[in-house]
Amino acid sequence: MFRKTLQLGVGIALGFGLICGQADDLTAQDDGAIGTDVSHLNAGENPYTTAYDVRIGSGIFERSCSRCHGLDGTGGERGPDLTSGFQRASTDAGLFNVVRNGVPDTEMRGISQNRGDQSVWQIVSYLQTLSGGMRVDVPGDPVTGAAVYAQNDCAGCHVIDGVGSSSGPDLTTIGNRRSPAELASDLTDPDERVQPQWWMMNVTHNDGTRVEGRRLNEGTYSVRILDESGRMWSFEKRNLSQSERLENSTMPSYSENLSDDQLQDLIAYLYGLIRPLDG
Ligand code: HEC
Ligand code: HEC
Repeated sequence: MFRKTLQLGVGIALGFGLICGQADDLTAQDDGAIGTDVSHLNAGENPYTTAYDVRIGSGIFERSCSRCHGLDGTGGERGPDLTSGFQRASTDAGLFNVVRNGVPDTEMRGISQNRGDQSVWQIVSYLQTLSGGMRVDVPGDPVTGAAVYAQNDCAGCHVIDGVGSSSGPDLTTIGNRRSPAELASDLTDPDERVQPQWWMMNVTHNDGTRVEGRRLNEGTYSVRILDESGRMWSFEKRNLSQSERLENSTMPSYSENLSDDQLQDLIAYLYGLIRPLDG
């Protein structure tokens, strides 16, 4: 697990550790990034907390952090779960410091100095939504929303609490991962942000076999595809006569099929799907 890899990092960052071992006590510092307003930094208050900022932060997270912390922040081989509160920081300023400077003696390095402070605050806003720290009120009715979920056969592609089919992401704790605004965009504009793990691919093998399915992984020389019947295919790319990658979502848009009220109720239902507080 990731603990093992941690130890490899010891030594490299030893001197650094002496300077900022107490990540949470430090306030965020100006890194001299060009064109960033830093006047607010000493107050330690996050100036970038809108839904837009969360979205930007989430994009940066996918690119720079997900290979260790997982695409949805629930942790991976190399980095811990970030969705159930933080050990290293209890405030926005503390999180800022962890992201900016890293955690000494670990694989957690500070983010690239090319990123301005604004980007770091936007990541912090996103991290706060992951841990459920920034809950907001939603207008819809979750009970009616559950019925909308059932009537539209969402379970044909999604799992909640072990029930349903997994041609799409598990939604059991979707409320921890997505803001109401993001959920609205998931439902009405599914093509907008499709994570690579849900991309589809169709290929034709030199022997004429055609396969279409989820692109599980793709390297320079080979590709693995999971077809609709759950069968896994593996191809050497040089043996393919045709291949096409579809970065669209297989999920239909519900902007037409659902009324505004139904959408609000559905969002209230999904937003309420969160991990129990003590777990
Ligand atoms: C090379 C792997 C790696 C990458 C890339 C990485 N992290 Fe980490 N991260 C770690 C490890 C390992 C830890 C645990 C350090 C420790 O022992 O506390 C950690 C810890 C953290 C923590 C503290 C968790 C807590 O409980 O307090 C936060 C927050 C965090 N990372 C955010 C990020 C963000 C944001 C990015 C991208 C900008 C990122 N990490 C990139 C490996 C990584
Ligand atoms: C034909 C399969 C299919 C159906 C039907 C479907 N979805 Fe999806 N859904 C997906 C796939 C695949 C993704 C991941 C790609 C993407 O982001 O669009 C997804 C993504 C999502 C997400 C974002 C999840 C995340 O982790 O970011 C939400 C929320 C969601 N769907 C809710 C619903 C709801 C609610 C319904 C019913 C009204 C529904 N879906 C119907 C396949 C489906």
